[in-house]
Amino acid sequence: MAGAAGSPEKTWSSRTAFILAAVGSAVGLGNIWKFPYEVGAGGGGAFVLIYLVFVFAIGLPVMIAELLVGRRGHAAPPIAAETVAAGSQRHKSWAWLGWIGVIGAFFVLSFYSVIAGFSLSYMVETLTGRLGDLTPEASVKHFTDDIGGSFAIVFGWHTLFMVLTVFIVARGIKGGLEQAVTYLMPALFVLLVGMVIYSLSVGEAGQALRFLFQPRLADLTTDNILQALGQAFFSLSLALGAIMTYGAYVPRDYSLPRSAFIIAAADTGVAILAGLAIFPLVFQYGLEANAGPGLVFITLPLAFAEMPGGVIVGGAFFLLLSIAALTSAISLLEPTVSWLEEKRGIARAKAAVWGGLAIYLVGIGSVMSFNVWSDVTFWRGTVLDNIDFITNNVMMPLGGLGIAVFVAWFMNPEAVRSEVTGISDRLYKAWLNLLGFVCPVALAAIFFSVSGADRLVLRIVDLAGYGVSDDPGERLLHATIVFIVMIMPSLLAARRRHPQLALLAFVNVVAGWQPVGWLFCLVWAHRPDLLIATRRAMGARADAPQSPGDEHSGSAG
Ligand code: TRP
Repeated sequence: MAGAAGSPEKTWSSRTAFILAAVGSAVGLGNIWKFPYEVGAGGGGAFVLIYLVFVFAIGLPVMIAELLVGRRGHAAPPIAAETVAAGSQRHKSWAWLGWIGVIGAFFVLSFYSVIAGFSLSYMVETLTGRLGDLTPEASVKHFTDDIGGSFAIVFGWHTLFMVLTVFIVARGIKGGLEQAVTYLMPALFVLLVGMVIYSLSVGEAGQALRFLFQPRLADLTTDNILQALGQAFFSLSLALGAIMTYGAYVPRDYSLPRSAFIIAAADTGVAILAGLAIFPLVFQYGLEANAGPGLVFITLPLAFAEMPGGVIVGGAFFLLLSIAALTSAISLLEPTVSWLEEKRGIARAKAAVWGGLAIYLVGIGSVMSFNVWSDVTFWRGTVLDNIDFITNNVMMPLGGLGIAVFVAWFMNPEAVRSEVTGISDRLYKAWLNLLGFVCPVALAAIFFSVSGADRLVLRIVDLAGYGVSDDPGERLLHATIVFIVMIMPSLLAARRRHPQLALLAFVNVVAGWQPVGWLFCLVWAHRPDLLIATRRAMGARADAPQSPGDEHSGSAG
């Protein structure tokens, strides 16, 4: 196994290097492009407030769990997840947690690179003065026709961006990733702080501050809330392999909770700073705060075109955005590359080139979504829309759910405790409860509603004839209750290594026998021996592994 994770090359050389790389992964298009437009469209302060709650109550606990699986498994995600599962006498099919990571990161990078390409292109156009006299109509036309509409242009910048990413990753952890973040992250920070100071001093600072920090909770819709949770996950790089892969390179003596806290705080800080850089200008020049995805590429250039020195300020802004995207892209390529290295024994440079090439080719589908194939739509829209939907709305919540449930419920509690160091027992308990109870419910809810699976689940369990509500909020609530009441018995049985009972409980969901689920829970709590007898009767293997101490120890449940 050439370049296995155990070799000294595959660990971070210092805590700072690890934190910089992880912050580099987290801080990206999500912070500077997506967060501001979602705040703008989601009504400002209320969105920011709920976003903060989600980052620290749901994102942070999952980040600790994901780093934990990576470090303990000490390998590329699928291998790591399988190893950790085996260590807790769990089935090797838990490797799916890692597969979601490798495959998810692969597909996210395929379109991430295309959008990063737009940023590179806007940087060059601003610096060369080509966006000097822009009207609102011209700016829309410029984005959709002149840039997006041209296959050659989008394709060219996508190519350049992927070449840069592959080049860095090919050079390895120390020579590539670490080197890159040590130069790029300070540059990013200086540019961002410069932008914020400039914006606050020349723009409408007061209005921007009120917009970002004065929550009007009445403005919040179910949609905004789900959006905020999805954004928190995307922005923290969770559940799609990046954090698990970076976790594999973390030495045993770093405290995971402390590192995760720094990463989450830095990521959130940058998102808010990006808001402070953008909104004073938006208000100053009378632009639309809720412009949507075009906020940065269509709206903001209008401000750059009008302001004195806009060439420099605008150029600096798009440079900042491109750097942020690059340090995220390397974390999206790394899962594929480390898997190719460790599982297939391919040398690093080769793995980076082949992995990058495959992602690049898939990315051409997203390039064409802006031009040649802009009206080829199916299911959720263009090719890009579909890839975005599957990765962000299906794989990310499912992966997060899997990580939370696996670590809180299925890993050996002693193993978990030994990885989560540097925090008090009380904090540890709080983390475990958030991870075991709050995160699964929140992630199940987001999965149901953003993937549309709530309709499906409710239709399946609707044999009792309650009907499926047309109101999305109501449907979300129902689906979440279904999850808690009906999937839980099944998980409980699986956790105690009774696959037949797990199946029975699951069938109960599908058949819509709600009372059976409840009865199951009741009997389970009071007479586990009865259920064990049932299981025997169902023909379980008597020698199935039973780990002592698992039944009553402190894991969630
Ligand atoms: N977090 C990055 C951003 O905000 C994107 C990103 C990098 C990512 N690696 C990831 C998203 C892994 C999901 C999973 O732009």
